[in-house]
Amino acid sequence: MNGKIDHLEKLREKAQLGGGEKRIKSQHDKGKLTARERIQLLVDEGSFEEIDMFVKHRSNDFGLDKQKYIGDGVVTGFAKINERPVAVFSQDFTVFGGSLSETHAEKICKIMDIAMKVGIPVIGLNDSGGARIQEGVVSLGGYADIFLRNTLASGVIPQISAVLGPCAGGAVYSPAITDFIFMVNNTSHMFVTGPNVVKTVTHEEVTFEDLGGAETHSTKSGVAHFANESEIEVLQNIRKLMDYLPLNWKDKSPEKDFDFSKETTEPKLDQIIPENPNKPYDMHDVINLLVDDAEFLEVHKNYAENILVGFARIGGMAVGIVANQPAVLAGVLDINSSIKGARFVRFCDAFNIPLLVLEDVPGFLPGTEQEWGGIIKNGAKLLFAFSEATVPKVTVITRKAYGGAYDVMNSKHIRGDFNFAWPSAEIAVMGPKGAVEIIFKKDIESAEDPEKMLDQRLSEYIEKFTNPYIAAERGFIDDVIKPSETKQKLINAFQLLKTKVDSNPKKKHSNIPL
Ligand code: HXC
Repeated sequence: MNGKIDHLEKLREKAQLGGGEKRIKSQHDKGKLTARERIQLLVDEGSFEEIDMFVKHRSNDFGLDKQKYIGDGVVTGFAKINERPVAVFSQDFTVFGGSLSETHAEKICKIMDIAMKVGIPVIGLNDSGGARIQEGVVSLGGYADIFLRNTLASGVIPQISAVLGPCAGGAVYSPAITDFIFMVNNTSHMFVTGPNVVKTVTHEEVTFEDLGGAETHSTKSGVAHFANESEIEVLQNIRKLMDYLPLNWKDKSPEKDFDFSKETTEPKLDQIIPENPNKPYDMHDVINLLVDDAEFLEVHKNYAENILVGFARIGGMAVGIVANQPAVLAGVLDINSSIKGARFVRFCDAFNIPLLVLEDVPGFLPGTEQEWGGIIKNGAKLLFAFSEATVPKVTVITRKAYGGAYDVMNSKHIRGDFNFAWPSAEIAVMGPKGAVEIIFKKDIESAEDPEKMLDQRLSEYIEKFTNPYIAAERGFIDDVIKPSETKQKLINAFQLLKTKVDSNPKKKHSNIPL
């Protein structure tokens, strides 16, 4: 028996080396960690239980029969993050460049199938040259097997992807279907076709980084939700994100201890809205003053910055925050911010994470670029997402709530549970100047002094409409609250809503305007 145990130990040691020491060195020289080092940094110490360590590929073409590495380019298994279970796969670039063979795909599918049965998140650490070229269509089939599982798992268990090296061709579509993508500045790249193909087809000269680096995808395309400076930062941030997420769609996010005897009044909030309604302020300041320990895990931080989305805790309860950002484009809703908001709202709704909406929105962005780009169908995504969401939904209107954007941003009419407004709220069909110029056009044009008439009508309009009380009279606003007392109101609202039950009509699935 001892000899057999020694043999097992030797195999295990061999597996640790992946494609060998030379290739491990080359991986380190590129500033990258190995598949196993990454797992160690991601999960709780000593918690990783590997499966399929002894899997080898079955291919004999192009001399592959002489190149067999145990594990076949991906490390898979189960572990814990802050004592909660997760399934993990980590592609090993030292084995055929982490390329995906039939057996490599089978290993990933196996942990996904188990994760679905037991209801735990899947975290994929991607670092791969794509399809194992020597295996041809068998490898493509392996990708499709993963895509199908990603799709079926969507909304059932959280799926998180870290792209820590190349991710090219159709391979990008697995991370793209998952809920969150993390990338590392300078070392990770995602594109459907690389710079050489781009040059041949469109004659554009572009670098790897410009085409599909972390900055590109976290600022321009919105493909990446997080871009971090190092792999270590990515892995730490995945751990932080996991703390806000339930294990599956039937589970609830973990609550943190909160000292309910602590003073929640925050006088600084009373001073945050400028006297001049056209002056910007930073909505981050409002968020930081409202959430526990000023901790806000911002998603899509550098993409469509006119809306903010992310996770935080209020009274210990995890919430998803969607907030207009008056400091960028006056917080207007446009195509990208609508898509960003909608995707986040749908994630939160799928996974029972209550939504807090902080609203200061002058409306939708006008212009041909927006209209031709489809602001109608894209703005509808955000409206659809909020309307469809059945999780606890609380809105605080801090200042502007104009036009269609008032309806869209989780208004009472689309099932907002508690809709609060600060005394500074302005709730109307449109801003004073635009409104007065339309409804009093004739009065102003025929007046002896048109400017005086405009001012007079403006004052009347502002007096009548730029406040929260008309909406409150109707019950569209449940309460007008002092900014300083907002945190306590939110704690009470989310506590009450813990037992909320709501549902949508039975159907196969909805048809969100894509
Ligand atoms: C087999 C591969 C491979 C692949 C890399 N290798 N990619 N083996 N299939 N797809 C091997 C190399 O032969 C090499 O083996 C080792 O991995 C490391 O590769 P290098 O080229 O030395 O590394 P580097 O210089 O860092 O370049 C990495 C790379 C490059 C940019 C990923 O290897 C590359 O361009 N690979 C091909 C990418 C590609 O076109 N893939 C197919 C995409 S289409 P040795 O033995 O020397 O260590 C696709 C379709 C998916 O994936 C469709 C899904 C529907």
